[in-house]
Amino acid sequence: MSRVRIHQHVNPLAPFYQFTPQAIEIRKVFARPQMPFHLDIGSARGGFLLKMAAIKQDWNFLGIEIREPLVEEANKIRDENNLNNLHFEFCNATFALDKLLENFPVDILRTITIQFPDPWYKKKHAKRRMVKDNLVETIVRHIILNGKIFIQTDVDFLAEEMFATFRANKNLREIEVDENPFPVKTEREAAVEEKGLPIFRRIFEKVEEKK
Ligand SMILES: C[S@@+](CC[C@H](N)C(=O)[O-])C[C@H]1O[C@@H](n2cnc3c(N)ncnc32)[C@H](O)[C@@H]1O
Repeated sequence: MSRVRIHQHVNPLAPFYQFTPQAIEIRKVFARPQMPFHLDIGSARGGFLLKMAAIKQDWNFLGIEIREPLVEEANKIRDENNLNNLHFEFCNATFALDKLLENFPVDILRTITIQFPDPWYKKKHAKRRMVKDNLVETIVRHIILNGKIFIQTDVDFLAEEMFATFRANKNLREIEVDENPFPVKTEREAAVEEKGLPIFRRIFEKVEEKK
């Protein structure tokens, strides 16, 4: 299969990516909108969700990705595989996730994954990193009570930074985890494991506000 050619990275702070998407109307997009939802942030080519949606047909899956050609390609593969429980959306997560999820019913978003987000190594590029206080607040606003967010990365300083940002939220409880709890590995996860390099993982669970 030929793969669409894309920029390796895009700058999420560039004016082009500061757009506000239409709120998703799940009744129009998903065949069975009453099923529980999983959200994958930074879904890239969509390999993780394409496999998950095929395995777990009693769940809906939403992938969001800032590189539009990848979103188009992933939705095309979704259609070729008749997966009516899966949708990919072009969205800058840091800027517009709240708007995208505006019309989501409460009590439907059960699990979220953030897997190997771009590290933006240089200090001057730190502002481009995806996990910020406002993203965590958006997640907490939309995920159900006891819903879980799974985060993994192979970059140690980024792991510490992301975990600290999630830990600081009063509605999240941190859970140590060694393994990916999902039955599918992302492309990046498989590549890192192949090299035998460490992966840093956490789950955060939404709870009633901590004292
Ligand atoms: C290193 S890739 C990892 C892809 C996949 N999750 C994996 O584990 O193989 C990070 C992905 O996040 C996307 N991304 C980066 N910033 C984003 C943002 N602000 N909103 C949505 N997607 C973003 C990138 O375009 C890229 O596809």
